[in-house]
Amino acid sequence: MSDHSWLSLENPEDVASPALLLWPDRIEFNIRHMLAQVGGDASLLRPHVKTHKMTEVVKLQLDAGIDRYKCATIAEAEMTAAAGASDVLLAYQPVGPNIARLRALQEKFPDTSFAAIVDDADNLARIAGYFASEGAELRLFADIDCGMGRSGIAPGRGALDLCRGILDTDGVAFAGLHVYDGHIHEPDVRVRGEQFEAARHVVEPFLGQLEEAGIEVPLIVGGGSPTFPWHARLAGEMGYRYECSPGTTLLWDAGYGTNHPDLGFQVAAGLLTRVLSKPGSGRLCLELGHKAVSGENPIGNRVRFPGIPDAVPVMQSEEHLVIETAAAADWSVGDVVLGIPWHICPTVALHQEGVVIRDAKATGERWRVVARDRRISV
Ligand SMILES: Cc1ncc(COP(=O)(O)O)c(C=O)c1O
Repeated sequence: MSDHSWLSLENPEDVASPALLLWPDRIEFNIRHMLAQVGGDASLLRPHVKTHKMTEVVKLQLDAGIDRYKCATIAEAEMTAAAGASDVLLAYQPVGPNIARLRALQEKFPDTSFAAIVDDADNLARIAGYFASEGAELRLFADIDCGMGRSGIAPGRGALDLCRGILDTDGVAFAGLHVYDGHIHEPDVRVRGEQFEAARHVVEPFLGQLEEAGIEVPLIVGGGSPTFPWHARLAGEMGYRYECSPGTTLLWDAGYGTNHPDLGFQVAAGLLTRVLSKPGSGRLCLELGHKAVSGENPIGNRVRFPGIPDAVPVMQSEEHLVIETAAAADWSVGDVVLGIPWHICPTVALHQEGVVIRDAKATGERWRVVARDRRISV
């Protein structure tokens, strides 16, 4: 993250602020780098779309031969299918009306194969009942909790029964296991590797139990960005079909760049803001409230400004971010400041579109953040 020469704009006057900026050449680098991790075999990748939520970013990946995706919302699933993906996994257990919405997507996009995850026997019965009543079938992955404790079922007897339930129930087909290790974000590479091994050893005995029970696992979908290289190695070695599912790798951000420089991805999105006010000496107020950059982290970890390296954020409200800097006197109201979000995924969802930057110029091209909406058509 030390060379920020790419983070400059020859024509900032053409960009209203605050704005999300996108560098397609850097996104393409990240796609090539994802592919390189899996030895160029696109069939080992199922990137998550939640980071960017944009048709154009799916299309760049389709052009590189990646045609399977993971998503978290029905709108992301619809955006991805509409972009031309052949296979879309909703890695979010459908509940309530979202069960019927997923079926509606199947009908609307007959050339796309949809799947979802499940971790609860009663909900499995509801999903299966609905799809069977429609004369349809949904591929379902058992969501296995390998230590994150967010969703999923712990490997063991209950998980085995769930897999058998999927196999034995009309209206659904057993697609395999979904295993997300989002609790692993350790910066130290050696410790991260150990944590990956620990999570892996939670899951592997379960594969043995399934084998003993005569249950064939067609596919395992595993991991996010921090453990991507380990999953990529496993994908090549395992006697199972295996897909890696990083998402932040597409746009990258200051958070992952700071904690996981070992992964070698490039920041491909930024923020353009202007100095809005100079409230007292040593302070600048920028147009980066928590409606323009994600406010989920402590105030020091929301956005980085390579052009103001000593900036200390001290206050953020809906549309304002106040920083303190020894260089405040050098800045005037209206001056342009470029920033790198700490966490790009929720930041993208705050913007209606991204301004496309090519050859250090803001083009007239805008990529819509289509799936920031909760509903597109179904
Ligand atoms: C289920 C699931 N899979 C994959 C990912 C992608 O992980 P990352 O953001 O580390 O790339 C996420 C991220 O939230 C996720 O929730």
